Amino acid sequence: MFPDLSDLPDTFVWGAATAAYQIEGAAAEDGRAPSIWDTFSRTPGKVADGDTGDTACDHYHRWPQDVALMRGLGLDAYRFSIAWPRVVPQGGGPVNPAGLAFYDRLVDALLEAGITPFPTLYHWDLPQAQQDRGGWPQRETALRFAEYASVVAERLGDRVTHWATLNEPLCSSWIGHLQGLMAPGLTDITAAVRASYHLHLGHGLAVQALRAAVPQARIGIVNNLSPCTPASDRPEDVAAARRADGHTNRWWLDPVHGRGYPQDMVELYGVQLPERPGDMAAIAAPLDWLGLNYYFREVVADDPSGPLPRARPVRLPGVRRTAMDWEVHADGLEQLLLRLTEEYGARSIYVTENGSAYEDRPGPDGRVHDPERTAYLEEHLAACARAVRGGAPLAGYFAWSLLDNFEWAYGYRKRFGLVHVDYPTQRRTVKDSGRRYADIIGAHRRGRTGPAGCAGSHSAGDPGRASVMPVGRPGSGRRR
Ligand code: IFM
Repeated sequence: MFPDLSDLPDTFVWGAATAAYQIEGAAAEDGRAPSIWDTFSRTPGKVADGDTGDTACDHYHRWPQDVALMRGLGLDAYRFSIAWPRVVPQGGGPVNPAGLAFYDRLVDALLEAGITPFPTLYHWDLPQAQQDRGGWPQRETALRFAEYASVVAERLGDRVTHWATLNEPLCSSWIGHLQGLMAPGLTDITAAVRASYHLHLGHGLAVQALRAAVPQARIGIVNNLSPCTPASDRPEDVAAARRADGHTNRWWLDPVHGRGYPQDMVELYGVQLPERPGDMAAIAAPLDWLGLNYYFREVVADDPSGPLPRARPVRLPGVRRTAMDWEVHADGLEQLLLRLTEEYGARSIYVTENGSAYEDRPGPDGRVHDPERTAYLEEHLAACARAVRGGAPLAGYFAWSLLDNFEWAYGYRKRFGLVHVDYPTQRRTVKDSGRRYADIIGAHRRGRTGPAGCAGSHSAGDPGRASVMPVGRPGSGRRR
């Protein structure tokens, strides 16, 4: 199915996303200090196969090739994250010039390739030294984060306009401090609630720092959200879905929209917020856009004695699932885009991540055939177009991920890339889904969506060859 994308605006931004610890490698190079993920991945039993991000995709050295790949795919924009432990290795204090220089080179190369940089300041790699001073449960971390934001903005703000502060604070807080399945691996509701609060405060203070350094900045925050559906119409399950919605969605959206933390959830968690005068206004700093990371919906049943939020995931039979065991449910993306528009008054939204893991490997022909990921991509893009038809101000879409990479606690077992990475050789191979994405981008750019759009050649030559030889981009006109 070639998705009907005729409703996407001409200015629609086509991108792909990655994150520093998942791709860069060079963990101990040029002054980078350990982050909580270096520590966590070295803790026995925490990451599958004992994998670490020490080498990952070696992007720290191979970034020119990776920028060429992006160009080959025809991307408008690249969302990446900046590693705080490269730039301010101890969390606060001295800045590491070599760390900043890496992002400086990357930004220049992207701009040179006609690709808009969309850096995210925090994608989970807190400097370990900052964790040793208490990490996100402590207010000091929010203050240090704003200082680090300032350092980066001063250096890149002459060329970078689009900024995201945090990626998925839900994961940092709930998965990292409550479930213990991500760094720093705590299982403590007080620490988790305090971490969420200081992440939000850090976000708000970073917005101020960015605006001070980059007056033309377009700033957003990136949340992973899921529609929460009751498993039955029993009132108990309906109430459980409401709690799940508070835990997954409202806790992350309400405070940054000036609504404070949802009172039902404050009561459920039973933890006093470490609020000081002025904090809530800082947290609600006006934003230019909202980032939505969407992967799956949650179907839940009441679980009165289960873990917070006392809502048990229910596994629906007969639905398609990815290798992460996540249900494929594209309608959820449309629903969330409309909810952000109608309930939160969003004026500009980017899908900052969306994608799927499958067990791909190159076939005898050397190609990576991944029909399931291609279908997932097309279905979710169609959902984006429906949301736009319904009034959502969707400005762009970033596929997760550009490359197969270090999938956190799953190590290298899960592959989300549009581009396959053979880790022993670091060879990159554009998967069929990457080729399809390039086709879709090219067709949209040419204004010819629908069946005719996929018949033409790739928008930027053959993306499968991009790692060998990047080719020029036709339709040169950038639309922004
Ligand atoms: O790989 C992650 C990414 O770091 C954050 N969002 C979800 C992705 C897939 O799990």
